[in-house]
Amino acid sequence: MRVVSGIQPTGSLHLGNYLGAIRNWVRMQDEMSSDGQCMFFLADLHAISMPHDPAELRAGTLEMVAALVACGIDPGKAVLFNQAQVPAHAELQWLLNGTARIGWLNRMTQFKDKSGKNREGASAALFTYPVLQAADVLLYQDTHVPVGEDQKQHLELARDIAQKFNNDFATEEEPVFTLPDPITPPEAARIMSLRDGSKKMSKSDPSDMARINLADDTDTMAKKIKKAKTDPEPLPSETKGLEERPEALNLVTIYAALAGVSAEKVLADYGGQGFGVFKPALAELLVEKLGPIQQRFVELKEDRESLDAILARGAAQAREIGVPTLKAAYDALGLIRG
Ligand code: TYM
Repeated sequence: MRVVSGIQPTGSLHLGNYLGAIRNWVRMQDEMSSDGQCMFFLADLHAISMPHDPAELRAGTLEMVAALVACGIDPGKAVLFNQAQVPAHAELQWLLNGTARIGWLNRMTQFKDKSGKNREGASAALFTYPVLQAADVLLYQDTHVPVGEDQKQHLELARDIAQKFNNDFATEEEPVFTLPDPITPPEAARIMSLRDGSKKMSKSDPSDMARINLADDTDTMAKKIKKAKTDPEPLPSETKGLEERPEALNLVTIYAALAGVSAEKVLADYGGQGFGVFKPALAELLVEKLGPIQQRFVELKEDRESLDAILARGAAQAREIGVPTLKAAYDALGLIRG
């Protein structure tokens, strides 16, 4: 079993990332058997697909390493690195560009969302972004990719690319790529904005009140929960009663995910209560769970030397692990590398 996943180092790590992905990464790392391996990376190459400030990207990459370690990623157990230090990601992307179809990329909802009304003005990198994502996972022959719901479409594309490449350039007995399976935590696959229950919680939301950042101090976290948009009704006693109430559903989902219980159990405890009771309970739980992580993060992010060392070590490991697959891909395509 090999697990690979990534996160863009743009903006602060937020509660959606934590519950939808990172917590699962930590779980998988801690439960991994001795012959398995976990690899987690900062998708800094993906971050240049949108307008960005180079100094912010540099600082954001180091901060994200600190955030992941604060969440429990252990560089002694998992390989932790950034894409830019492992050139094989960009190389393999180019090789896969020959296999990916324009029609497949045209269907990607993230490109539509991020390019908005200005498709012609979007970067070519934003369009081919999913091919780099395919390279990220296929390079390491990984079997599982823990992600939130929003990344599933990209991983289906990675499987399509792998399958077509294997069909066109390899044999059934000796495929070049393994087809990885996405793993999504059903209880927190999609954490929504605190200001609008129909939009996902996102680093790029212009309103900081829409998300809980790992970098927020605990007072800010509690304030954001108290100010979260809700409706005037009390909580229902059963999940069916949340169907037309996206903001209420989101807060119940967050509570359940943090407490490690089902939404049914949360409603059994809080059904009939108003948000005046539920929100303070949620704020308290949030601070209890994220407070210690936030504290570790604040300490770690100042230790530049350790963060650089973690990345250098992880990159050396990743470069080595990727060698055989990159070579196999060049060979399969008839490219002479010498
Ligand atoms: P990114 O940086 O947007 O998010 C990192 C992880 O957090 C999950 N996530 C969420 N989960 C639940 N609710 C939310 N509101 C929420 N917002 C984000 C994402 O699903 C993701 O798992 N393209 C990827 C990074 C990437 C990658 C990869 C991931 C690059 N290459 C290869 C997996 C494998 C991205 O932008 O994630």
